[in-house]
Amino acid sequence: MNAPSILVAPKPLSDSTPVVELRRVSIAFDGPPVLEDISFTVAPGETRILLGPAGVGKSVLLKLINGLLLPDRGQVLLFGEDITTLKENELFPLRARTGMVFQEGALFDSLTVRDNVAYQLIQNSTIPDEEIDRRVRQALSFVGLEQTFPLYPDSLSGGMRRRVAIARALINNPELILYDSPTGGLDPVTSATIIELVMKERDVHRTPSLLVTHRLQDAFTLCTHRFDAARNSMVDLPQGKTDPGTTFLMLEEGRLIFDGSLHDLLHTNNQFVREFLE
Ligand SMILES: Nc1ncnc2c1ncn2[C@@H]1O[C@H](COP(=O)(O)OP(=O)(O)O)[C@@H](O)[C@H]1O
Ligand SMILES: [Mg+2]
Repeated sequence: MNAPSILVAPKPLSDSTPVVELRRVSIAFDGPPVLEDISFTVAPGETRILLGPAGVGKSVLLKLINGLLLPDRGQVLLFGEDITTLKENELFPLRARTGMVFQEGALFDSLTVRDNVAYQLIQNSTIPDEEIDRRVRQALSFVGLEQTFPLYPDSLSGGMRRRVAIARALINNPELILYDSPTGGLDPVTSATIIELVMKERDVHRTPSLLVTHRLQDAFTLCTHRFDAARNSMVDLPQGKTDPGTTFLMLEEGRLIFDGSLHDLLHTNNQFVREFLE
């Protein structure tokens, strides 16, 4: 019997379906489980910040979400589809709807910035060159690096390389962005410029994302600021206000030990979270 359901008009899928949903996901390699019984969602419009010490499985988690790794148990739903049941060729169109910023940026040193940023588009040989150029310039303009179009990555600073990696992830107007430690190895000032870009993407395009970081400063900046398009920079939210769509996940020894708001994070009794915050 499903009579009660007629009392409520069904919501369109796009409004109610999580962009990402993990259901009781576990994965091990050769030793003990790296991730065990992990469940959480990324809802439309949400930015989820994934915290945890080195080696805890943060990169593995992102690779599970775009199907670069397959879990031993559990389900991974991407745009409402369980990708653990899909064949590689069925996975491609879903992966093409996500943007991935790999740890360290992972640019190809033998390709120009133009070809790095165009990488996903070049795979699709039906797009004319002029159209590719136009979209690359647009993505580079978003990250403030139009002038690097013809250059090779080795002539860029560390911060510029990360910006190019973000432009590459944005090239297909993704419906989800996975950022793996986008500020890792950068100095605090350069890190702030990268976080400002993440915020710009969040507040201008409203793209949902999952961002891995070990830097609490990144997390707090994202929660306490918004991107002001008119000024083209981030601005403080009013005292005591935080971005309601930016929330936290935290891993410890393969387990998800926290899922909630900044306020809850700062007031949790979980000893591990408290130590991490200090
Ligand atoms: N493809 C792989 N094969 C075997 N072990 C892996 C693989 N990828 C990750 N691991 C192991 O999983 C653990 C978590 O790695 P990772 O997700 O990279 O950690 P981090 O939280 O620092 O991103 C580490 O012990 C790592 O050695
Ligand atoms: Mg990692």
